[in-house]
Amino acid sequence: MMGHIDIIIVMVLTIVLYLQFSFVFANTKVYVVYLGKMTHDDPESATDSHHHLLWPLLGSKKAVHDSIVYSYRHGFSGFAAKLTESQAQQISELPEVVQVTPNTLYELTTTRTWDYLGLSPGNSESLLHKANMGSPVIVGVIDSGVWPESEMFNDKGYGPIPSRWKGGCVSGELFNASIHCNRKLIGAKYFVDGLVAENGVLNTKENPEYVSPRDFSGHGTHVASTIGGSFLPNVSYSRLGRGTVRGGAPGVFLAIYKACWFQMGCSNADLLKAIDEAIHDGVDVLSLSLGSGVPLNLETDVRLFFAMGLFHAVEKGIHVVASAGNNGPAAQTIGNVAPWILTVAATTLDRSFPTAITLGNNITILGQAIFAGPELSFVGLTYSGDCAKLSANPMEGKVVLCFTADINPRSRVVTNARTAVKNAGGLGVIIARNPRPVNPTHNFPCVTVDFELGTDILFYIRSTISPMAKIHAPRTFVSHPVATKVASFSSRGPNSISPMILKPDIAAPGVNILAAISPNSSINDGGFAMMSGTSMATPVVTGVVVLLRSLYPHWSPSAIKSAIVTTAWKTDPSGEPIFADGSNRKLADPFDYGGGLVNPEKAARPGLIYDMTIDDYVSYLCSTYNYNDASISQVLGNKTVCPNPKPSVLDLNLPSITIPNLKDEVTLTRTVTNVGPLNSIYKVMIDPPIGISMTVTPHTLQFNSTTKIVSFKVRVSTRHKVNTGYYFGSLTWTDNLHNVVIPVSVRTQILERYHDEN
Ligand SMILES: *[C@@H]1O[C@H](CO)[C@@H](O)[C@H](O)[C@H]1NC(C)=O
Ligand SMILES: *[C@@H]1O[C@H](CO)[C@@H](O)[C@H](O)[C@H]1NC(C)=O
Ligand SMILES: *[C@@H]1O[C@H](CO)[C@@H](O)[C@H](O)[C@H]1NC(C)=O
Ligand SMILES: *[C@@H]1O[C@H](CO)[C@@H](O)[C@H](O)[C@H]1NC(C)=O
Ligand SMILES: *[C@@H]1O[C@H](CO)[C@@H](O)[C@H](O)[C@H]1NC(C)=O
Ligand SMILES: *[C@@H]1O[C@H](CO)[C@@H](O)[C@H](O)[C@H]1NC(C)=O
Repeated sequence: MMGHIDIIIVMVLTIVLYLQFSFVFANTKVYVVYLGKMTHDDPESATDSHHHLLWPLLGSKKAVHDSIVYSYRHGFSGFAAKLTESQAQQISELPEVVQVTPNTLYELTTTRTWDYLGLSPGNSESLLHKANMGSPVIVGVIDSGVWPESEMFNDKGYGPIPSRWKGGCVSGELFNASIHCNRKLIGAKYFVDGLVAENGVLNTKENPEYVSPRDFSGHGTHVASTIGGSFLPNVSYSRLGRGTVRGGAPGVFLAIYKACWFQMGCSNADLLKAIDEAIHDGVDVLSLSLGSGVPLNLETDVRLFFAMGLFHAVEKGIHVVASAGNNGPAAQTIGNVAPWILTVAATTLDRSFPTAITLGNNITILGQAIFAGPELSFVGLTYSGDCAKLSANPMEGKVVLCFTADINPRSRVVTNARTAVKNAGGLGVIIARNPRPVNPTHNFPCVTVDFELGTDILFYIRSTISPMAKIHAPRTFVSHPVATKVASFSSRGPNSISPMILKPDIAAPGVNILAAISPNSSINDGGFAMMSGTSMATPVVTGVVVLLRSLYPHWSPSAIKSAIVTTAWKTDPSGEPIFADGSNRKLADPFDYGGGLVNPEKAARPGLIYDMTIDDYVSYLCSTYNYNDASISQVLGNKTVCPNPKPSVLDLNLPSITIPNLKDEVTLTRTVTNVGPLNSIYKVMIDPPIGISMTVTPHTLQFNSTTKIVSFKVRVSTRHKVNTGYYFGSLTWTDNLHNVVIPVSVRTQILERYHDEN
């Protein structure tokens, strides 16, 4: 790109769209410039002030006009602009600028793992009823758009659109605002300028997209219909799992912000514009099934700025729910770590889709598979070693067994092995590997087993001259005795950016979720598909947040977050332990699932809440990010001075206690607000982490009509004499009616800032 002018012509189907005449000069990149709070109410003058800031640097009005990609001027003040590195540097030194960061790409958090059977997000009828199906809450979904014709977005039974709604519906390619929006789908906008300014081009033949709110990939449609899809009876996927599907809050109003583009991702500049508009439009809840990759700290600055966009949303009382990421099961892979975000991990359900393999000796082994059938009757069975490099023995007409130890969540080993076997004339493949959700394989049988069962099959192959196998059609077992597990792909704590903030916050089912999809998706079956990922778990929690917001319209985002975290299930709904999948299966801990598995009914009656205001988040910013008084004042739009000495993050009123560096002892404070019966007495119950002592004062909390908010202190000390890993426990307040449980995670560090290789 040496100084020439790119004229971008986007062609899709028969429609030719001149998306943008983009003047991309050598060495410019898109930078996002953050100026803090919107200090005047007039968006036009905000835009003017953004132009004025750039003018002296770029020399002319025209140059400024060509450089600016977006002005952010509703929820917060800032802009995205094409700049050279030295221009970006100069701007960052201006006093009115809080932060300048290069644009970056975020990704949708789906592992592209599909399955047969559906899940209706598990909210009980009674909460649904009490919360009026989520009406009249407005939820903004920042994702890849929407397929508006899906029956799950029909507006039957909907009343008028709330008058406070200031958003709109924007037409574009194959999207007509006056036809495709309705009383349920009340908003639809798209944001692509940041991606185009950076990459020059959006559409190619290999990478088709709709330049409109219409969803090409299907991800956004799946997410939106999981949050708020209408009741739809008699839906199935590949003829299986027939039943009624619906979203968590089937009465919610949906506003779609498309900022993610198939195979290209979502640019920070576009995401921030979507957040800015959503704040202006009047959404009550924001749902983001997206995040950036690992290692987390590579682009910490950008991440923080993205988090600041969401900070301004929370400041306006908007509840923000975002995905943990699909970079598990390794530690410190968690994303979306800011304390004002409700960060969601993914679990399986207590359901399975077993596929029987009968060996020639009549022994039957139950693997897992997702293919449309029919069954494959007895054929030859052969062993081909490593799935990544299948040995050359003839595979034609046979079922092939291979092993892989690849645990990379993005690994293509299984897909590649399946293709290789199919191309070599094989009839099916059995993959022995570490546990993780299975992929759909359409008509080709691909059964996964663990190493133990794989070894059984291998011993059988070695035991006979002509090994044979039969692969039965997959079946659907519902309520089968299978443990709930945190999915292997779900990103794990501890939080590497702010280790004292527990992340994730909560877990929800995110494996085998049946919801609506775009017909353009390769996994579409009659407008529906099974998808897996923390992307799928996030809208389940968003649905619960919507119901709670409808029930308690005046509760703050942190109050609802606290209600969800403190009431979560530590076991599965039947009382069995929750495991965490990884290279070995273990019992789940707070770094896998935060407070636990979301329990919607209990979350509606939390008893006590750990509430927070913007001032608490400001203390957090003061204590962590080296924000000085000037930048904090910019962020808040008033003269604010950080406390001196800096407040401790340990005292942030989170519904969790996480101490990454306990030496001898530390004392921290929490404050609870009674939202249950007025006259209540709560007693403390402590389950300390191993080798840790915890004392709580006072150990009884008395509430009455005048005393609704009470603080308590927690003294934590260690008996360990060496640096340990994390140990986990809990702190519970109980009035025998409500159990308000917060997770406690403590690591002893005698030697500080020391990385233990062992
Ligand atoms: C959108 O739909 C309306 C109502 O059917 C119609 O009048 C209008 O012409 C359509 N617009 C476009 C651009 O197709
Ligand atoms: C459900 O749909 C199937 C075909 O999609 C149809 O054969 C069946 O009659 C339907 N059942 C009900 C109860 O509507
Ligand atoms: C396998 O089972 C079938 C029926 O159950 C029986 O007829 C057959 O002899 C058995 N084969 C072997 C090898 O045991
Ligand atoms: C996308 O799906 C629509 C509706 O099924 C279809 O008409 C169109 O051809 C598809 N486009 C592409 C590029 O696959
Ligand atoms: C500044 O604004 C914040 C957030 O709106 C508010 O909590 C704080 O009290 C204000 N501080 C001053 C000094 O006005
Ligand atoms: C509530 O409790 C506080 C302290 O426990 C006490 O001082 C106050 O008088 C009580 N108020 C009522 C109305 O009982």
